[in-house]
Amino acid sequence: MLILGVESSCDETGLALYDTELGLLAHALHTQVAMHAEYGGVVPELASRDHIQRVLPLTERVLKAANKTLQDLDAIAYTQGPGLSGALLVGTSFAQSLAFSLKIPTINVHHLEGHLLAPLLEDNPPDFPFVALLVSGGHSQLMRVDGIGEYQLLGDTLDDAAGEAFDKTAKLLGLGYPGGPALAKLAELSQSNHHNCRPQFKLPRPLLHSGDLNFSFSGLKTAVLTLSNKHQPLDEISKADIAWEFQEAITEVLTAKCMSALRETGLDNLVVSGGVGANSKLREKLNAATKRKLCKVSYPRLEFCTDNGAMIAFAGAMRLKAQTNTTSGYGFSVRPRWDLAELQKP
Ligand code: KG4
Ligand code: ZN
Repeated sequence: MLILGVESSCDETGLALYDTELGLLAHALHTQVAMHAEYGGVVPELASRDHIQRVLPLTERVLKAANKTLQDLDAIAYTQGPGLSGALLVGTSFAQSLAFSLKIPTINVHHLEGHLLAPLLEDNPPDFPFVALLVSGGHSQLMRVDGIGEYQLLGDTLDDAAGEAFDKTAKLLGLGYPGGPALAKLAELSQSNHHNCRPQFKLPRPLLHSGDLNFSFSGLKTAVLTLSNKHQPLDEISKADIAWEFQEAITEVLTAKCMSALRETGLDNLVVSGGVGANSKLREKLNAATKRKLCKVSYPRLEFCTDNGAMIAFAGAMRLKAQTNTTSGYGFSVRPRWDLAELQKP
């Protein structure tokens, strides 16, 4: 079966073709980063208008790359939520109308289920059950995953998500949007990095010893603000040192909580997904910690950490196999706020 995946929940239009026998055939992405950078963040109305411009050419591109036509499609999977309503409506209405004209079913996919399953697109995919760390712009969650739709929340952020903390801290340091990659790059320039000396700045490790699997990152951002106010004007070296220490703090807490989650569940399989999963410091720490405990850790390839159509096509294929989430009829809706816990086992 051939599934077209459509992602348009935020600032990336992603299209992909997934074949249930052959795997991923093609994927294409347009990122709106440059357009939103001017405003320092995503402008929802501009995002929706841009998705409309991109969705058809990208569909043509993936069909051409895979040497397929619209008539070859068996189903269309689309992100129904969570995300920006207007942006979600573009992908949803496109998927619904195309499927209607082709007389094929649609599959409504939860964006986070897409992220969660993205590592399964890689060679040597992890087996169920596993512990998943989902770290994106909107979420920081630890989950026990026993199968498709079998997600048990183990820990969550009490305030800012990890990606949000990266983005807000980057903004404080005068870096562009999106902040995560920019901050990570700046941290590379830090003296602490190059000379392996103790950082000149020290930031807290929030909830490191809380005894549970929850996170809290908003205090870290405030601590960065206090630090930078105290050392005004901040020279480039100090800025890089703060970025380094911030990244150390956040990745240390994420790694420690992942290891606690593995210990508490008795599982030896960790999966990392979402935009912050692209962070190389986080990967370095997780690789070392899981190696010490003889656990396996899996990541999506870098381009599938952030939003993309491939993860939606794949999650759609899993749902189609299980015969759940398929919809028919004329009406449709989006779910800008959709809790992953509401998802059902097939
Ligand atoms: O998963 P994603 O593309 O979108 C959401 O569903 O939120 O994640 C985007 C988030 C942003 O906050 C971005 O700053 C962060 O992931 N991010 C990173 C890196 N690459 C993306 N954070 C830290 N280091 C990175 N290399
Ligand atoms: Zn996402």
